[in-house]
Amino acid sequence: MRLKVLSDKAKAAIEAEFPKYPDKRSVLLSALHIAQKEVGYLSEAAMVDVSELLELTPVQVYDVATFYSLYNLKPVGKHVIQVCKTLSCALVGAGQIIEHLQNRLGIRVGETTPDGLFSLKLVECLASCGTAPMVQINNRYYENLTPEKVDRLLDDLKREGKSAMASGPFQLPVLGGKS
Ligand code: FES
Repeated sequence: MRLKVLSDKAKAAIEAEFPKYPDKRSVLLSALHIAQKEVGYLSEAAMVDVSELLELTPVQVYDVATFYSLYNLKPVGKHVIQVCKTLSCALVGAGQIIEHLQNRLGIRVGETTPDGLFSLKLVECLASCGTAPMVQINNRYYENLTPEKVDRLLDDLKREGKSAMASGPFQLPVLGGKS
């Protein structure tokens, strides 16, 4: 089978998932992770490749990819900042964190900084309500945030590409992905 954008390595990684599941369609979430790691986001061509490998229609793949906020349907920056905007976080300052991030980064929600370092997204509850307000950046959580902590965090990420303020990761790395 000739794929549009996924490499033989990604194809092999997806096929290696098959024995873990009762049928091919059940591999979809893992396959989308693998495709996103390789391409950087879920392009239409990547979703078509996944649909062919899993014997699904492209629409079935698109339906799932658009349901979960952890999949990106357009190119994103090196650090994807997902700010929880749900009730527990909203009650203790998520709005202030969002405003502060927009001001510091010079972008609005849904955008990426011109240097390609940061993208900003809003998401629903990330199951860390007890440590609100919080954000997820790539696979790691940053909790009990204040504007001052956000400043430190952004400085760490710019300077070193990581921060000691992180907790996690909460997802298994796929194809040596970002941490
Ligand atoms: S409401 Fe923000 S983590 Fe649950």
